[in-house]
Amino acid sequence: MVLPTIRTSRLVLRAITPHDVDALFGIFGDPELTRYWGHPSLANRAAAETLFEAIQAGAASGELFQWGITLCGTGDLIGTCTLASLDRQHRRAEIGAALAPKNHGQGYAEEAVRAVINHGFDELGLHRVTADVDPRNVPALRLVERLGFRKEVCCASTTSTRRSGRTGSCSGFWSASGVRAVRRGLPDAEGEAPKVAAEGSRGSETT
Ligand SMILES: CC(C)(COP(=O)(O)OP(=O)(O)OC[C@H]1O[C@@H](n2cnc3c(N)ncnc32)[C@H](O)[C@@H]1OP(=O)(O)O)[C@@H](O)C(=O)NCCC(=O)NCCS
Repeated sequence: MVLPTIRTSRLVLRAITPHDVDALFGIFGDPELTRYWGHPSLANRAAAETLFEAIQAGAASGELFQWGITLCGTGDLIGTCTLASLDRQHRRAEIGAALAPKNHGQGYAEEAVRAVINHGFDELGLHRVTADVDPRNVPALRLVERLGFRKEVCCASTTSTRRSGRTGSCSGFWSASGVRAVRRGLPDAEGEAPKVAAEGSRGSETT
């Protein structure tokens, strides 16, 4: 499946192409950025190519949709926003987002995540979206809290990955898991109380 393009006021979320492999490496090759990400940082460009192939395979199987986040007018990839573990039967998925550090602190992640979640509710028929955020990942926690996610579960030491001789998460330490969830209806961009979106309503323009 080719991902639909989603437009917001400042962003275009679009399918990731082979031209984005260098940008993917720039973003996911950064060990600081992937400190709380579910996978280790990319070791080289070949690993970014493998990631690109996995993104394509995820879209083809319908289980993982990873949009490239670009700024209106530039087309350059500044991050990605993902609906993973898409379960059509039970109408649920998990959201994830990553932005290149130079684009942090401008509300782009919130804008992208809001648009992708609304797409999930309105176009994919999802009922529930979760975010699995390490409690130490303060910017991500602030992001999901701004979007109205509610804390459901917190588990310590959930990830153990041996890498570079260290045992721990992708960054070499044990990670924790804090699941937060939102059901149909996000607070609006001004942070007003959650509203339940009408069935079939559209949160963002898609093409
Ligand atoms: C998670 C992540 C995407 C959040 O990025 P972010 O830049 O903090 O989030 P946003 O883009 O929504 O920006 C929000 C910040 O911009 C500020 N901001 C500035 N202009 C804004 C605008 N026009 N609209 C909204 N917010 C704006 C907000 O006040 C907020 O700042 P604050 O957190 O200090 O209050 C980023 O930290 C990241 O890429 N982390 C690595 C990957 C990761 O761990 N992802 C989470 C796992 S799923």
